[in-house]
Amino acid sequence: MTFWGGGHFAAGQAPLMERLNASIGFDQRLWRQDIAGSKAHATMLAAQGIITDADRDQILQGLAQIEEEIAQGRFAFKAELEDIHFNVESRLTDLIGEPGRRLHTARSRNDQVATDFRLFVRDAIDRADQLLSALQAVLIDHAEAEATTVMPGFTHLQTAQPVTLGHHLLAYVEMFGRDRSRFQDARARMNESPLGAAALAGTSFAIDREMTAKALGFDRPAANSLDAVSDRDFALDYLSAASITAVHLSRLAEEIVLWATRQFGFVIVSEAFSTGSSIMPQKRNPDAAELIRGKTGRVVGALVSLLTMLKGLPLTYSKDMQEDKEPLFDTVDTLDLCLETAAAMLREVRFDRAKMAAAAGSGFSTATDLADWCVRSLDLPFRTAHHVAGRAVREAEQRNCGLEDLPLDVLQTIEPRITADVFAILGVDNSVQSRTSFGGTAPTNVKAAVREARARFLERRG
Ligand code: ARG
Repeated sequence: MTFWGGGHFAAGQAPLMERLNASIGFDQRLWRQDIAGSKAHATMLAAQGIITDADRDQILQGLAQIEEEIAQGRFAFKAELEDIHFNVESRLTDLIGEPGRRLHTARSRNDQVATDFRLFVRDAIDRADQLLSALQAVLIDHAEAEATTVMPGFTHLQTAQPVTLGHHLLAYVEMFGRDRSRFQDARARMNESPLGAAALAGTSFAIDREMTAKALGFDRPAANSLDAVSDRDFALDYLSAASITAVHLSRLAEEIVLWATRQFGFVIVSEAFSTGSSIMPQKRNPDAAELIRGKTGRVVGALVSLLTMLKGLPLTYSKDMQEDKEPLFDTVDTLDLCLETAAAMLREVRFDRAKMAAAAGSGFSTATDLADWCVRSLDLPFRTAHHVAGRAVREAEQRNCGLEDLPLDVLQTIEPRITADVFAILGVDNSVQSRTSFGGTAPTNVKAAVREARARFLERRG
């Protein structure tokens, strides 16, 4: 006889079926959640008079022992017992006999797995939030130190206008802040208990779903039993928030890779997060950043895999849904590792301020400042001023010099009213200092934004 009864199953399963069917190889990761769910369920069954207090006590004791066995690596997981739910329940019955066989009253593996998996995802969300805030803290510290450091700002990866490095880093702080809020939204939405939905239709026993929900830290029981066992939105929510986070990490990693090239030379990644080449002695490769960028593919892949798995499924549970776990587990491991590594790598980077400043001034990056000066000082319409600055750029290109190196009389051939005052705004430092509009790149803004970001993202919120 099979563990689960199998009253009407005469012949055994094909070995191939066991290989296809067994999930214990991966869902054993849910053991803590599974045991927590069983404890809450048994406690509730006794409180409702569905099992005796004596049975409950034996069940709780047995579960505590199993918890210890698994934690100490002494538990023998068995593929013929399919999954974590059967493995734990079967061991419980071995340990305590008949009371163990009463635990499955008024529940099913369908509400059990939905509960376990939610608890797992909820923990993953909480960890992602912590890791993201640690990453934000590193970026904010750098932003503070680099509030006055100038660098070229890019559009189309072409030099556009000078910006401050602090401002650039704070852009990522905003991105990771939105990622955290996506995880928090997902958490608030998912925090409902499926336990007690049983197989799909609820149960004829007088269970107390509020009680188990509360015991497991859920805000309330899920309202509809059919939805409760078949909903995997919470995993999709996690995976989409994880995908967006991974894409943000990847963009940051790409900038580190680019900036670490000899051609840019903006950043030096520490040896601890670099590798050498087996053949080219001069190489120092920013592998950590490359891997963080590269791992985005599997995270996004997990989201697509789960979306595709779910799309044709009728209500309620189908075994297809067992395929939800591996992509999610892989994503949790990948995202946690990448977030932690990104923070550690960034903590150790050094920025080459001189290189950045030199690059900031190249590419006629203050052409817009020249146009703005003509608007402000000469009352030119902006379109006219744009034309004047464009001609100045052409002149400087021909002379192979910077805008600030053009002699005043040359500038005056373009626009006779230009005065020597203009040179003050053609330097990159003056340029960034003038960008004081709300959200702009001026060092004074960055210093205030650093304080504001610490308060908004890093100080304990109630
Ligand atoms: N191992 C299964 C899963 O991961 C548990 C639920 C099985 N339920 C069932 N009716 N076969 O989805």
